[in-house]
Amino acid sequence: MSGVNEIRSTFLDYFRKNGHEVVSSSPLVPRNDPTLMFTNAGMVQFKNVFTGLEKRPYTTATTAQKCVRAGGKHNDLDNVGYTARHHTFFEMLGNFSFGDYFKANAIELAWNLITKEFGLDAKRLLVTVYHTDDEAFDLWKKIAGLSDDRIIRIPTSDNFWAMGDTGPCGPCSEIFYDHGDHIWGGPPGSPEEDGDRFIEIWNLVFMQYEQVTKEERIDLPRPSIDTGMGLERVAAVLQGQHDNYDIDLFRALISASEEATGIKAEGEHRGSHRVIADHLRSSAFLIADGVLPSNEGRGYVLRRIMRRAMRHAQLLGARDPLLWKLLPALIQQMGRAYPELVRAESLISETLKLEENRFRKTLERGLSLLSDATNTLHKGDMLDGETAFKLYDTYGFPLDLTQDALRAREIGVDISGFTDAMQRQKAEARSHWTGSGDKATETIWFELREKHGATEFLGYDTETAEGVVQAIVRDGKAVDSASAGEQVQVVVNQTPFYGESGGQMGDTGLISTDNGMLNVSDTQKKGEGLFVHIATVTEGTLKVGDAVALTVDHVRRSRLRSNHSATHLLHEALREVLGTHVAQKGSLVAPERLRFDVSHPKPMSAEELQKVEDMANAIILQNAPVTTRLMSVDDAIAEGAMALFGEKYGDEVRVVAMGKAIEGPKAGKPYSVELCGGTHVNATGDIGLVRVLGESAVGAGVRRVEAVTGEAARAYLAEQDERVKTLAGALKVQPAELVSRVEALIDERRKLEKELADAKRRLAMGGGQGGSAGDFKEIGGIRFMGKALNGIDAKDLKGLADEGKASLGSGVVTLIGVSDDGKASAVVAVTPDLVDRFSAVDLVRIASVALGGKGGGGRPDMAQAGGPDGAKASEALDAVAAALGA
Ligand code: ALA
Repeated sequence: MSGVNEIRSTFLDYFRKNGHEVVSSSPLVPRNDPTLMFTNAGMVQFKNVFTGLEKRPYTTATTAQKCVRAGGKHNDLDNVGYTARHHTFFEMLGNFSFGDYFKANAIELAWNLITKEFGLDAKRLLVTVYHTDDEAFDLWKKIAGLSDDRIIRIPTSDNFWAMGDTGPCGPCSEIFYDHGDHIWGGPPGSPEEDGDRFIEIWNLVFMQYEQVTKEERIDLPRPSIDTGMGLERVAAVLQGQHDNYDIDLFRALISASEEATGIKAEGEHRGSHRVIADHLRSSAFLIADGVLPSNEGRGYVLRRIMRRAMRHAQLLGARDPLLWKLLPALIQQMGRAYPELVRAESLISETLKLEENRFRKTLERGLSLLSDATNTLHKGDMLDGETAFKLYDTYGFPLDLTQDALRAREIGVDISGFTDAMQRQKAEARSHWTGSGDKATETIWFELREKHGATEFLGYDTETAEGVVQAIVRDGKAVDSASAGEQVQVVVNQTPFYGESGGQMGDTGLISTDNGMLNVSDTQKKGEGLFVHIATVTEGTLKVGDAVALTVDHVRRSRLRSNHSATHLLHEALREVLGTHVAQKGSLVAPERLRFDVSHPKPMSAEELQKVEDMANAIILQNAPVTTRLMSVDDAIAEGAMALFGEKYGDEVRVVAMGKAIEGPKAGKPYSVELCGGTHVNATGDIGLVRVLGESAVGAGVRRVEAVTGEAARAYLAEQDERVKTLAGALKVQPAELVSRVEALIDERRKLEKELADAKRRLAMGGGQGGSAGDFKEIGGIRFMGKALNGIDAKDLKGLADEGKASLGSGVVTLIGVSDDGKASAVVAVTPDLVDRFSAVDLVRIASVALGGKGGGGRPDMAQAGGPDGAKASEALDAVAAALGA
């Protein structure tokens, strides 16, 4: 047995055979520990299992854990490349007992593995124990048969392992391997212990206590075991090497780097190849776990690692991006054990290329500035802080890159001068935003932002996380604590809560501590980078500095995801159906529904909307994965990503792609590609269904499409279906016959309406109620027909008046229609032979006055008027009759 992969699986198999659950490595970004930058030991994922807070279905476990030690407390970055055993990324093999076995079994299991399975020579092994731990001393003697001089008592914290200032801890026992007397060094505890001859390969921690605060230490519910074996170190031992960088895995990476650069890993170049191999591992694994290069927090540690590697690539003469070319070699070595590398291959590759291209532009200029600034300096001198800051600020040189670049010449950097320059720049920036008006009310957020840095958003990968409360704001002022009933705004160092932006509403959920509970009703972004939880304390109290558990309302967030992804699909479908002039003009992604405004000059037809909906649903049915990549804005747009005009984007943007175009010029290519910072479904199928509710106008040339997805779409359709069934039931037909039945009913209704109108007319003209003047009379030789007609429409009066004229032959007809609400309309018709004696217009005005109106108009032979007072119909008829006799 020799290869790293074989050693890893032998270790895990051995513990599996001994009843342990093989558990996958947890991500490098710890979910359950807000104080930890990166996972740095195997026990991190089991922290709460040791303390009894969390229960698992097993009591013993074994893992190969990905670890990063860079940034934060454990920082190995500076030494990588210059020593035999420093790495930013390494694997820790471990076995764990959660109140199951304790010291005796742990020692026995460890001893058997290294001497029997791994076949290490017992004579080369020695161990340490905590100076007071007689029990461990005796067990080593009994189980391993080690002589007293090979069991060394160590009184220092080296043999008392603690996770951090708080957390599980206990005395430990370390196993050392003697690489032989050709290497200088002495056993642990001896004056030469810092030499390289005796190397620790395995640490067995007898977890017994929990450090609750700095002062208080309590017993764990049950004594437990946590062990950690550095895979790279044990591989070196098993492969007969002294240097970790000479094991098979690193040889493969280094030879890929030699091949890509054409430079052998010898002499002055050896260190650069090692840096590249190590940093490639940490960068690739961090990116696969969701960290992307940025200027703050974890993202900045990643950027520092990447840029340090890039400088070494440059030292090797690489003129094109190098790291991404080595990724296939890494995946070949580690992809089977860590499939996340394979899954994230394109993301890692593009992120490496992007960062390298971006940095290349300033790297050479910065290095030449550095060489000018240091050409008069000698060994032991210091570079001034101002120049180091300029390199940082203008050329993107992280401080440790500058230090690394000067290390070979033994020139240091004035760090306090660097910090001063940084503070001066911050003060300058602050003077720009302490303005008046609205800005002043927002000042508190900028102050908090400056004090604590940006909030780290974890919500792309998780909906639950732990964080530390950095600030509580009540009524616009920072306070130390809040208690039940109070409404506050809470800032935490990291959060899974999405802050409202890009149309997507902020998350809601819960924040809880050991002493309190808060209901988060909204999350907003403030002060350029802070995520502010708007919350009410429902129980207990919350204090600044509290560790809190943050839980996003999962159901609501899932709906937001579906609706946000659906807007992308609708956007693309609208462009395909209506044309590429369609551009997004605004959107609202709420949990219940989505609203999407686009530029389009006219209403959309029902067919167009149906087509849009059909297309979006076709992509949903593909159930294609939704991918997110980080790219430069220019590259993203060159790839066809839709960007919002006038929107401010950072240097790098998230590009969200979903689905595969089925037809057209993009066939086979991603269907929708957009710049977007929102949260999305994992695969389009998660949307379930999208249903367009309709479209409307919201301004000149802007149309609004509204839609629902998933459960809301189903419920909407179910409701529609219920209506159809109710209607079908009422009409006593099958739902399928509903349309023809309703059409038949409408036809029938038209026919009946016509028949009814005819009947009314016949009835009216046959015998209506006349005024006191009667229906017919002769006035001074003029034949007069006057009728008041209830329930006859104004529009029918003229036709009836024509009929009246025909029946009179010669004379004047006056008809007053009275509507159901008591209003009157009047029509007067005069036969042609009489128009030079009587004007219909004059006569209808007389009728109108009697009906309480005024005016009226028409032609001399036919005129029309109205009045509010239908009860005066008889008086109106009498008035017209009187006018004829006058
Ligand atoms: N947790 C122990 C360590 O990291 C095993 O060394």
